[in-house]
Amino acid sequence: MTTHPDVDGAPSISAHQSLLAQAFRDVLNEGAADAAPFGNQKLTSPAFASGADASRYEPVWSRTPVTGPAAPDSSFGAISEKAVSPFFSGAVSLPSHSFSPDTAAQGSTAPYFLHASQKPGSVVKTLSGYDIRQIKNDFPILNQSVNGHKLVWLDNAATTQKPRAVIDATSRFYERDNSNIHRAAHTLAARATDAFEGAREKLQRFIGAHEAAEIVFVRGTTEAINLVAQSYGRANIGAGDEILITTIEHHANIVPWQLLAKQTGAVLRVAPVNDKGELLLEQFAALLSGRTKIVAVTHVANALGTINPIEQIIALAHAYGVPVLVDAAQSSPHLPLNVAALDADFLVLSGHKVYGPTGIGILYGKRELLEAMPPWQGGGHMIRDVTFTHTEFQGLPEKFEAGTPDIAGAVGLGAAVDYLEQIGLPAIAAHEHALLEYATAEFERLPDVRIIGTAAAKASVLSFVVKGHDVTDVAKYLDSYGIAARSGHHCAQPALRRFGVEATVRASFGLYNSFEDVDTLVSTLRLLVRH
Ligand SMILES: Cc1ncc(COP(=O)(O)O)c(C=O)c1O
Repeated sequence: MTTHPDVDGAPSISAHQSLLAQAFRDVLNEGAADAAPFGNQKLTSPAFASGADASRYEPVWSRTPVTGPAAPDSSFGAISEKAVSPFFSGAVSLPSHSFSPDTAAQGSTAPYFLHASQKPGSVVKTLSGYDIRQIKNDFPILNQSVNGHKLVWLDNAATTQKPRAVIDATSRFYERDNSNIHRAAHTLAARATDAFEGAREKLQRFIGAHEAAEIVFVRGTTEAINLVAQSYGRANIGAGDEILITTIEHHANIVPWQLLAKQTGAVLRVAPVNDKGELLLEQFAALLSGRTKIVAVTHVANALGTINPIEQIIALAHAYGVPVLVDAAQSSPHLPLNVAALDADFLVLSGHKVYGPTGIGILYGKRELLEAMPPWQGGGHMIRDVTFTHTEFQGLPEKFEAGTPDIAGAVGLGAAVDYLEQIGLPAIAAHEHALLEYATAEFERLPDVRIIGTAAAKASVLSFVVKGHDVTDVAKYLDSYGIAARSGHHCAQPALRRFGVEATVRASFGLYNSFEDVDTLVSTLRLLVRH
């Protein structure tokens, strides 16, 4: 680790170490529970009035109050016991019934995270209160056969399936409310505007942002990162400045920064990972300096499943006054998020990864950052006044929403986060992690199968190669049994090359996957390796 004597006010190496130590303490001690209250967050269900007033010109959302918290759906059990996990952005509350005696006996700081050393046979096969059959039934697409076998969808890291609630919300919008938003004085415009702005409020709540104006609707994670790179980046990053990412980023968090670096003369720096795919935090810290102008890092790595220590990353970057963009494309379906508790400067996610529609996602940015940023794209919606010589822009968030947005997509995304909150992210995380631990233990007993990405803190991704079998052939073989798993480079070529492979097969679990799905995957792979 190096120090940075060239930088005025940069922390010394010992300050670094105490910062790191404090960051770890903050995550592990009870105090973090108060700082990151999302586990106890009650669900609100904004009832946007869509009663239209044809005479008004003021947008209806600006006058429509959001109602207070609604009770969580009791069918998913009371959320009571507190647990502190180093894998989460602080402390979370978990359903009491998700604890198994096995894990409790081990005295883990993360009681529902089953230990990798645990014997496969001792892994709990169901988490009571998590009604997997009911959840599967919520997803009509899962009720079909593919190649003569019941569909097993294990391509969730690429995209997730949509619950009935999302499908209904989207079609209801087109059946009843479809209109362009924000300006017209007619009834349907008011309803559509309410629905769109209501979705923004839901997303605000979902990620714990201070205000809805900090949520910008975009096409998805890729567009959000490009927006930050081109708007924040062009305004704040110049020749010789540095952009810090990690080895295990999705291409969406590499290429936009490369483009910016080419345009400005900035330099892209890459923090390495160890052989398990875990970020080397000290080396990350050593790469920070007064030249660093932004850190852009994935929360969960899509090709490996690694959960990055995002709290420590942010604390370290902030010690240098460097803003952090968190790519939450892969964490948002699995882990509770709270940007305020994390003190994230930007956070981006895609609707289709959180059981919502494709073509919609969000950029979160702190108000002061977004306000200071120039617009990225120009056009309708984002202006207050236009002449041929001058344009006055709207405030947040419209300044960044040029043109007609994906209104139905936003409505569907709002329904998706409602659905996730009904089940509860802590319960989902517990279920998925149990699946991952079970599958990992089963995979370790399969001959000729190598798991790529073995970090201690992982979300539900199993990337693997099978000796003597091309990854595409493995995926086709699985497909012949109705199992959808992805093969290829997963848009993370540098991450895979770090492990000496160009491609893997990736099974990724979602909230509707069952232990039986894992059994089907494992027994089919066993058939393949016996061939
Ligand atoms: C970590 C990560 N970042 C960014 C993206 C890009 O998301 P989208 O294609 O929805 O823009 C993905 C998609 O797989 C991802 O996994």
